[in-house]
Amino acid sequence: MREDRAIPNGAALFFLIAAALAAMAGGMVLADGGGVEGVRLAIRATARTSLALFLLAFAASALVRLSPGAVTRWLLANRRWFGLGFAFSHLVHAGAIFLLHRWHPDTFALLVQPKTFVTGGIAYLFIALLAATSFDRGVAALGPRNWKRLHSIGIWVIWISFVFTNGKRIPASAAYAIPVAILIAALALRLWAARRSRRVAAPA
Ligand code: HEM
Repeated sequence: MREDRAIPNGAALFFLIAAALAAMAGGMVLADGGGVEGVRLAIRATARTSLALFLLAFAASALVRLSPGAVTRWLLANRRWFGLGFAFSHLVHAGAIFLLHRWHPDTFALLVQPKTFVTGGIAYLFIALLAATSFDRGVAALGPRNWKRLHSIGIWVIWISFVFTNGKRIPASAAYAIPVAILIAALALRLWAARRSRRVAAPA
């Protein structure tokens, strides 16, 4: 198939995602003149863009196995860049949290419990490790087995973090059950694809 130059790929795709995220969050903060609602909006919006980008990377391989086609193959070919887009989105999430802390410390104290720094910090550690080892040099430095181990663990730490951060908000709003359901559906998709691959590899 001829490569369509109008469809972004690779690093260009990442820079497009990063620019859109920076414009979105910056616009939200500036539109409210640095007010608490604009900063909170940027925190919530980046949590959602992070989830969308993470899910694209998380499900890419399963999607191409279950439904091979131009779109799913493009998704898989760019999985690394969607993963880096997710890391960038969460960097902006952290930046907006920092602004909340600096500009609106009372609201920050109401919204963030000390234990969030532990659970969130662990997730951020894995996000940073996965992003830093996303390139061929990272695979070479760790060795393929350790790289695979780190990325498998990291992906599940992040998946659990999203289930937890959305799930704990369900008592306040039932709408948070939607992202949790999507996360479980993405997990089911991966299990289904893995089962089908095993069947193809070992026909009866
Ligand atoms: C130290 C680390 C973190 C801190 C201090 C933090 C702080 C916050 C705060 C204050 C909000 C609420 C904003 C508001 O209600 O106005 C929020 C929302 C959220 N955060 Fe984080 N966060 C951290 C890490 C994470 C991580 C690692 C994840 C997931 C991987 C995550 C996912 C979410 C989600 C899903 C929401 C809800 C977004 C929505 O309302 O749709 N956060 N975070």
